[in-house]
Amino acid sequence: MKTLLMLITTEMEQAFKAAGYEESYAKVTLSNRPDLCEYQCNGAMAAAKAYKKAPIMIAEDVTEYLRESACFSSAEAVKPGFINLKLKPAFVAGFLNEMAEAGNLGVEQEKEPKTIMIDYGGPNVAKPLHVGHLRSAIIGESVKRIVRFKGNKVTGDIHLGDWGYQMGLIITELEKRKPELPYFIEDYEGEYPEEAPFTIGELEEIYPAASAYAKEHEEYREKALQATYELQNGRRGYRAVWKHIMNVSVADLKKNYQVLNVDFDLWKGEADVQKYIPDMVEMLKEKGFAHYDDGALVVDVAEEDDNKAVPPCMILKSDGAALYDTTDLATLIERESLYRPDQIIYVVDKRQELHFVQVFRCAKKTGIVRPEVELKYLGFGTMNGKDGKPFKTREGGVMRLENLLREITEEMMKKIMDNRTVTEDEAEATAQIVGLAAVKYGDLSNQASKDYIFDVDRFTSFEGNTGPYILYTIVRIKSILNKYQENGGAADALRIQEPCGGSEKALMLETAKFNEMFETVYEEIAPHKMCAYIYDVANAFNKFYHETRILAEEDEGRKAGYIALLKLTKEVLEVCIDLLGFEAPERM
Ligand code: ARG
Repeated sequence: MKTLLMLITTEMEQAFKAAGYEESYAKVTLSNRPDLCEYQCNGAMAAAKAYKKAPIMIAEDVTEYLRESACFSSAEAVKPGFINLKLKPAFVAGFLNEMAEAGNLGVEQEKEPKTIMIDYGGPNVAKPLHVGHLRSAIIGESVKRIVRFKGNKVTGDIHLGDWGYQMGLIITELEKRKPELPYFIEDYEGEYPEEAPFTIGELEEIYPAASAYAKEHEEYREKALQATYELQNGRRGYRAVWKHIMNVSVADLKKNYQVLNVDFDLWKGEADVQKYIPDMVEMLKEKGFAHYDDGALVVDVAEEDDNKAVPPCMILKSDGAALYDTTDLATLIERESLYRPDQIIYVVDKRQELHFVQVFRCAKKTGIVRPEVELKYLGFGTMNGKDGKPFKTREGGVMRLENLLREITEEMMKKIMDNRTVTEDEAEATAQIVGLAAVKYGDLSNQASKDYIFDVDRFTSFEGNTGPYILYTIVRIKSILNKYQENGGAADALRIQEPCGGSEKALMLETAKFNEMFETVYEEIAPHKMCAYIYDVANAFNKFYHETRILAEEDEGRKAGYIALLKLTKEVLEVCIDLLGFEAPERM
């Protein structure tokens, strides 16, 4: 369905035309003086030059034709030439009732749905998940849901880092500890055990131990590099260990992402695309795209008007090893052949921007992707601590994701128990839900590309622009709706009525902006604008709530109208938080 702004703009265009002016001047915007009006049109000011007339005269001419308007209850020309607009209560109520009945709250589905892949998450197998991966998961999940809501065919791919040096390190350390295992016996030809020779707990200890040891011991490091090389070149025993590492880690990752309410359609990784590399290298050489530079095989991707040097894309190191660039190019080959996407969105730390510039240019230049495929890089900023430096543990180490979530949940638990109305068990479950919302909202309410400060106290507060505040508002609405039903009211099929009070109308106007807001969020891939919107809706609701006796209203008809408005407001908020990737509890 059309947005409210479209409808009133059309009305304004007709008035401009009827008054003898070009309709292109009839642009309506939200009022920047909400004390005076709800919407405004400044077109008369722009038209003044073209028509050599005072803007106020044009504004007056136009408003003459708005007297009988179906949308405006008042359209006032004010000096020097603004048109101040207020909407008819019946028009707003009608719009909301239509929205309540339309599917997707009035958001129209993409006419030509696109096939879109989202590359996000990107954890490195066997290394602990840290807060750096948190942002990719949170933002990527929300982007995926937003783009999907519009009716596109969307696939989220985790793109595991599962083929690097960390694997060589683990193999080396394991061999040091348990040399008797068949994986390490050079000419072993039998079957390898089904059971992994380690648990996830052990694995989590092995990697950091090996990594630290390698930093101090050159010989060990060489060994780990050699093991990586042999793994990549197919050494049977190492491959078998690798499979165990994968199984154990992926099961653990799945648990972690489930806690985050993040869900991938594809669990592919760097290892899956190694098979495309030899042919790709051949092609790049044969078609003359790649050349050797200092022993390394590279593709030049600099462009004339670059204002910063863009180094060549590295295909093979001088020792023949593939690199990060190589893997991302090979991944594009696979994506083209298996999924033929119209667009791929990469949600990755903005410090990797140059890498993606190189890869995208190389992929386009060499025909690895079709020219029409849109490769989009959504780089996000760093999550900092209160000291403005990358977020660390109290001891100064890299914060692990689980610990961070635990910290937030504990803080949430304290706050919930403070004004406790629920049992301890329920409080714990609620603290999980609200804690996750606190983290996600705290992240998503900032523009993704910016750094932000992770502030546990602020994020977990029930007041202000926070996740818990939004959830609290939803829970409050739910509780009113429940009470209404308990008292025998049927909440279905109620119609929203013309507003009586100012705060009621204000809430209606906010709620009515949903499809308009959604289009902007979708076009700009900007979840932070959805956060700003639900904050406005929540504020408008709470103001209405404090000024209105909803359930105590004696006029049953009016009460029913309130309930219908609450239902729609709740739906809007719930759809939005779902698109942001979190949910509300029943009580809190
Ligand atoms: N595993 C990488 C890292 O931890 C992120 C992967 C991002 N996606 C990609 N296609 N390169 O930095």
